[in-house]
Amino acid sequence: MITKSKGTYDILPDESKKWHLLETAIRKVSARYNFKEIRTPIFESSDLFHRSVGETSDIVTKETYNFSDRKGRSITLRPEGTASVVRSVIEHKLYAESNLPLKYYYVGPMFRYERPQKGRQRQFHQFGAETLGSKTPLADAETIAYALDFLHEIGMEDVTVHINSLGDGESKTHYRDQLRAYLEPNINMLCEDCQRRFEDNPLRILDCKVDKDNPVLKDAPKPLDWLSDNDKMHFEDVLGYLDAMGIDYVIDDRLVRGLDYYTHTVFELEADHKSLGAQSVVCAGGRYNHLVKSLNGPDFPAVGFAFGLERLLLTIPDEIVAEEEGVDLFFIAMGKNVNHKAMSIVKFLRDEGWSVDYDFFNRSLKAQFKQAERNNPAYYLIFGDDELSSGTINIKNATTGDQESVRLDDLKTRLVSLFAENA
Ligand code: HAM
Repeated sequence: MITKSKGTYDILPDESKKWHLLETAIRKVSARYNFKEIRTPIFESSDLFHRSVGETSDIVTKETYNFSDRKGRSITLRPEGTASVVRSVIEHKLYAESNLPLKYYYVGPMFRYERPQKGRQRQFHQFGAETLGSKTPLADAETIAYALDFLHEIGMEDVTVHINSLGDGESKTHYRDQLRAYLEPNINMLCEDCQRRFEDNPLRILDCKVDKDNPVLKDAPKPLDWLSDNDKMHFEDVLGYLDAMGIDYVIDDRLVRGLDYYTHTVFELEADHKSLGAQSVVCAGGRYNHLVKSLNGPDFPAVGFAFGLERLLLTIPDEIVAEEEGVDLFFIAMGKNVNHKAMSIVKFLRDEGWSVDYDFFNRSLKAQFKQAERNNPAYYLIFGDDELSSGTINIKNATTGDQESVRLDDLKTRLVSLFAENA
């Protein structure tokens, strides 16, 4: 038997209902914030992720799915959505539009070669949003408010916003030098990954999961201590706007995030929910003021977030989607002679907009009713040899059991009035 690949899973019909619920909430909240949907390809040139997510990030060094296509081009299955949105904005010159900032959201599968566990897959789905073309702290605050509103929309109230600022330009370089100088004498006390990060990406050492309780890190300098006056002002303004919207937050001075493109604000939303276990960070994001330019676009500051949808799915109770959706009509055809006429009536009823199902097997009446019950119809339509010759059909109310015979010519009119009576 061929089975699914490790880290992937099938979304079976019952589970699909939970996805519909999430997708409906995404579209509803995105409309409220006036974000428009963008859909980008699932694979891109590998260069895109090397130059954005970062050569030294764990995602690029350990987690991407890479392959050469038949012409030998290096291709990567997208591990995240931000880089592709930026590529698309540059390629289509969307920045030439006058209605800046651009506000886009996306939903789709992403791919990372990670150790699969509950809420963490190799093919997983993100709902992400990006605001491009605005450097105002208002955009950072709006991004966080939008993400929180989405969680509230799906009934998740117990959420903590963790926020930090990495600063930009001089603040970031200055801080990186300070951190290196501090860590250098103790480098041997850090994990192997952190020893490698020391040269390429020392900020990442701060939120290393292995070294999180290492005393060396406890006293390490923090990015906030090295912010320039301008960068400090940006961060304070973001917090001020969050205060104005009544959004609580926790300043987490060790939060740095694993992707290279961040500047200024970084944040994570942590949900307190029993089914999440270790995967409680349901959303993460931040500002990335130089990514667009570094991919040969204009100088276009931006900010965004992404949710891991598998994690949110774990928090949706089964009862929410347990209600069985039924069909409007179940057609019970008795005898092979009536099959052609039966199919033409079923087609006619579907064309008129009703959901209709029927039994494919010409089974006994009892077996057909059993099959019909599983589909929870509002009415049964019963059609046999007698009805075929008299040009009639029986309508049976599935709830009351009331049955009536109508002429086929009057079927549509009668059904319209029956559904209207019971609406
Ligand atoms: P990220 O932190 O790499 O950021 O991923 C965002 C969220 O995706 C995580 O917080 C987590 O909920 C979810 N996630 C990540 N990996 C997995 C996985 N293997 N299985 C299930 N869920 C997962 C980004 O991707 C950035 N692009 C976010 C962003 C947008 N920053 C600015 N704009």
